[in-house]
Amino acid sequence: MASAASLPRLALLTLAMSLAAAASGDTTTTTTAAGLIRVNCGAAVSATDSDGRTWDRDDAPSSTAGGVAAAASYEDPSLPSAVPYMTARVLDSAYTYSFSFPARRPGRVFLRLFFYPASYAGRAAGDAIFGVAAGGVTLLRDFNASQTALALNAAYLVREFSLNVTAAAGGRLDVTFTPSSDAHYAFVNGIEVVPVPADMATKPVPTLANGGRPDPMPIRADTAFQTVYRLNVGGTAVSPGADSGLLYRSWDEDSPYIYGAAFGVNYPKDSNVTIRYPASVPPYAAPESVYASARSMGPNAQVNLNYNLTWILPVDAGFYYLLRLHFCEIQYPITKPNQRVFYVYVNNQTAQAGMDVIALSGGIGRPVFADYLVVTAPGAGQTDLWVALYPDVKTSPEYYDAILNGLEVFKLQTYDTNSLAGPNPPLPDDNAAGDGSRARPKKKSGAFVAGWAGAAGGLVAVLMGCLCAWAICRRKTKAAIADVPKNPAPGLHGPTETYVFSVTAQK
Ligand SMILES: *[C@@H]1O[C@H](CO)[C@@H](O)[C@H](O)[C@H]1NC(C)=O
Ligand SMILES: *[C@@H]1O[C@H](CO)[C@@H](O)[C@H](O)[C@H]1NC(C)=O
Ligand SMILES: *[C@@H]1O[C@H](CO)[C@@H](O)[C@H](O)[C@H]1NC(C)=O
Ligand SMILES: *[C@@H]1O[C@H](CO)[C@@H](O)[C@H](O)[C@H]1NC(C)=O
Ligand SMILES: *[C@@H]1O[C@H](CO)[C@@H](O)[C@H](O)[C@H]1NC(C)=O
Repeated sequence: MASAASLPRLALLTLAMSLAAAASGDTTTTTTAAGLIRVNCGAAVSATDSDGRTWDRDDAPSSTAGGVAAAASYEDPSLPSAVPYMTARVLDSAYTYSFSFPARRPGRVFLRLFFYPASYAGRAAGDAIFGVAAGGVTLLRDFNASQTALALNAAYLVREFSLNVTAAAGGRLDVTFTPSSDAHYAFVNGIEVVPVPADMATKPVPTLANGGRPDPMPIRADTAFQTVYRLNVGGTAVSPGADSGLLYRSWDEDSPYIYGAAFGVNYPKDSNVTIRYPASVPPYAAPESVYASARSMGPNAQVNLNYNLTWILPVDAGFYYLLRLHFCEIQYPITKPNQRVFYVYVNNQTAQAGMDVIALSGGIGRPVFADYLVVTAPGAGQTDLWVALYPDVKTSPEYYDAILNGLEVFKLQTYDTNSLAGPNPPLPDDNAAGDGSRARPKKKSGAFVAGWAGAAGGLVAVLMGCLCAWAICRRKTKAAIADVPKNPAPGLHGPTETYVFSVTAQK
């Protein structure tokens, strides 16, 4: 383990260097440090948000082409900061924000779009219907920010995309806003571009456990992603300023997505446990606060054998989704393999049997994550992703229990239409009786979450579940062996096929 111990520093160094290089390459009018671009759209001067982050003024001209700068008249108390939400650029026709990186193309970036639906320039919030495209990919289509915010019970929205700028024409990042018709307008309150480490999304090409490769291979170097969920499981929300790797991600609480009343137990790490990132898991994978808290099924083996710890995540139908599950054992006495071993089910299919976090990670306080790929049925509307954990008693582990520390869900661009756009989420039905288990408090953060309301009556048809786990461990593990159904029979009433990718060691 001696040589492995020196590797995390190397990874950190690489990240620091790539961010620094990106910074020197940024010669746009922006003043932000570290290669970031933050535009406070519609603002005449640069400003600092409540997190201490600097946002540049909006240089776009106020003209027919550039639209007009406008301000919101009412500041919703749940806005995290007046900047960038209280000003907007309002566009009557298509307009492109163009970001260039002359000295060095940044490779993969997070592109974040900030929306605060309000009345701007005398126009009703509900009249803003528009599309957004970047790097040849449709990010949003006929986007109704008002409806989306209403459906999510949020005052504002952050839409986060991951794009490979190198692959885009000329290495520029053009972000185009287009009103859906003459009667409608487009608006945006803030745009943020954050360079991300090269290896963050691109993984070795997975092979199916039963041989062959998925056709078409859904993840390429230039595949665009959208972050749909990013949850600090068993922990509290993490604000952008508290994220690791200077990536400014938001991590939300997981409790609103837990199915039914069986919440398990959430807990922090023992105070004498130190989170130590192994070489395969650079610190930017997730901040310590994500790994340092967890949710498990609970202390009672008999209770645990009688339920699945389940998260239900509404998503747009018809896309591939990359699920990233973050694990870390953080409490004594779990320090050895075969103490806590469990199944990971995705959409009622076995994504992984024999998941043993200690065996994968190498010890207590050592983070590890595993990726799974899910294919949802073609179609409009929303569908539910089910992620469930259940004890795997086959190897007679010491505890009949399961654990999860973090959960990310990314939507992958389609290639036939080069799109990430889904429908606006349906509004919740106020008259629906409901069992109360899905009632949620008004969210402070409107980030990322897809429409919960869609879950209620949503189509739960998943023609093919296609799962992969290239867990980032240096050990080969028997966890790779999972059930691959022999007779896939596509139907409309549930998942019919699960592919499990073999676990691949990652250097
Ligand atoms: C957008 O959504 C809002 C809120 O649901 C609605 O009032 C408005 O009519 C919608 N706009 C259009 C053009 O459908
Ligand atoms: C971006 O795309 C280019 C060209 O397809 C590829 O060579 C490069 O590895 C990609 N970068 C990342 C970070 O995926
Ligand atoms: C750490 O603390 C826990 C309880 O707080 C205890 O059970 C465990 O033995 C301690 N471990 C070490 C290595 O000190
Ligand atoms: C999983 O199974 C439950 C119980 O049978 C069912 O209600 C649910 O719709 C299934 N979920 C999916 C995504 O198929
Ligand atoms: C847990 O979920 C799996 C997969 O959907 C299912 O086969 C199993 O019956 C469930 N177990 C319990 C106790 O609900």
